[in-house]
Amino acid sequence: MKKYHFVAISGSLRKDSFNTMTLQAAQQLVPAHVTIEHLSIEDVPMYHADLYDKRPPESVEKLNKAIKAADALIFVTPEYNYSIPGVLKNAIDFLSKHPDKPFDFKPVGIMGASPSLLGTARAQYHLRQMLVAVNALTMNQPEVMIAQASKKFDTTGQLIDEPTKEIISKFIVSLSEFCDRVRA
Ligand code: FNR
Repeated sequence: MKKYHFVAISGSLRKDSFNTMTLQAAQQLVPAHVTIEHLSIEDVPMYHADLYDKRPPESVEKLNKAIKAADALIFVTPEYNYSIPGVLKNAIDFLSKHPDKPFDFKPVGIMGASPSLLGTARAQYHLRQMLVAVNALTMNQPEVMIAQASKKFDTTGQLIDEPTKEIISKFIVSLSEFCDRVRA
């Protein structure tokens, strides 16, 4: 069976992040032929053009290489003030200026978790718009918008909600099928 390697970025840096927990749940729910590697954006500096004068910072080089090598990229984003967090936008901006163009024609999937009722819907649509700018190929469905996240994970960070497990599993399989369609 064909193998797929996905890389995933959480838009939250905090230790008890529901979005990082969602990413970790996805890592546990993968079928045998899929792997998901967590890429941290914690070390990406605040973007300004002078940082590209010589070569991109090591943290950006590392992300670029991992994204280029992956079959697909997954963003797991919180919603901050109806959009994505600044740290995630900053990482996308930085990577978008990399001469290798890591997002160009890259299959991308989006998930998000929020304690609110809308489950990051507004942030996800902002992110989709940004991904048009960098020419990524973003999968439309299934949409994974985890609302009332505090009820869906236990105190150890394990996903305990069966319907959410099912939609994440479906998302992973759909993303591998999406990769095949893009390649074809
Ligand atoms: C939030 N939060 C939030 N939630 C939401 O559903 N819509 C929103 O617009 C916002 N806005 C917002 C702004 C800022 C600055 C913060 C810090 C938070 C709440 C947010 O969803 C919540 O803190 C999540 O737990 C953040 O995700 P992680 O860190 O748990 O992954």
